[in-house]
Amino acid sequence: MMAHAADTRGRVEFRAVEIAFDGRRGPTPAVTRTTLTLEPGTFTAIIGPSGCGKSTLLNAAAGFIAPAHGEILVDGAPVRGPDPEIGVIFQQYALFPWLTALGNVDFALRRFGFSRAERRQKAMAALAEVGLRGQEKKFPGQLSGGMKQRVAIARTFAGRPKALLMDEPFGALDAQTRGSMHDLLSGVWRAHLATVLFITHDVDEALVLADRIHVMSSGPGRIVESFELSAARPRSAARFDAAQLAMRARILDLLRPAAEPAA
Ligand SMILES: Nc1ncnc2c1ncn2[C@@H]1O[C@H](COP(=O)(O)OP(=O)(O)OP(=O)(O)O)[C@@H](O)[C@H]1O
Ligand SMILES: [Mg+2]
Repeated sequence: MMAHAADTRGRVEFRAVEIAFDGRRGPTPAVTRTTLTLEPGTFTAIIGPSGCGKSTLLNAAAGFIAPAHGEILVDGAPVRGPDPEIGVIFQQYALFPWLTALGNVDFALRRFGFSRAERRQKAMAALAEVGLRGQEKKFPGQLSGGMKQRVAIARTFAGRPKALLMDEPFGALDAQTRGSMHDLLSGVWRAHLATVLFITHDVDEALVLADRIHVMSSGPGRIVESFELSAARPRSAARFDAAQLAMRARILDLLRPAAEPAA
């Protein structure tokens, strides 16, 4: 559904981005100068210990906070605030509780100027794409955690985002549900070819989903090592190839507290 030439849109560039928060002794950098390009249609994962600045980086790309230095560009235009063409999905389900699954997706389509009938048809198709055919009339309170994230994914992709920023979207789900969400997200991502930035704590999740993995370290937050994956899809943590297993070992080493440089 809604196939489009995504290979020319959705380039996200972080240029020498530094993000600071006010501390007791003045502004303290949460993320030090970070330069990173997400090529259109690619899937990038960021992994790192708690507090290393992953969400801060994502929130800056989403336009929720402004960098102290440097800039973030989406298709060449500086991010100045939240942009409806950039989808954001968090761990907590940000659905409107007073709208049905269908209503939530329909709402995201309003800005396109479709007729009511077109919106409904597109929203039904988007929900079918995430495996929720027959659940359209349910309210978020009647859906499981995994189903709510499916609605969030349907809603976001239906809005034809240039880029999709996901901050530990499956962190609250049990392992089995998370596995089926990986299959679902991989499929929807390949069908739409949006640029994805995906934050996780889980090495296997990054190795199953991403083209590129950046490992961050704290004190202060920065990217310490980057990896490129070429393993064929669909992927499964139960069937990692030799390259994935080597990356897994290396990333786990990087994430061990002992690997942190002494303060
Ligand atoms: N609004 C804020 N005000 C002040 N400090 C903040 C703010 N948001 C984040 N920080 C600080 O910035 C650093 C990075 O936080 P961030 O939330 O980006 O980490 P994270 O890598 O996403 O961690 P987690 O894995 O626990 O989600 C932390 O030291 C945190 O305390
Ligand atoms: Mg976070």
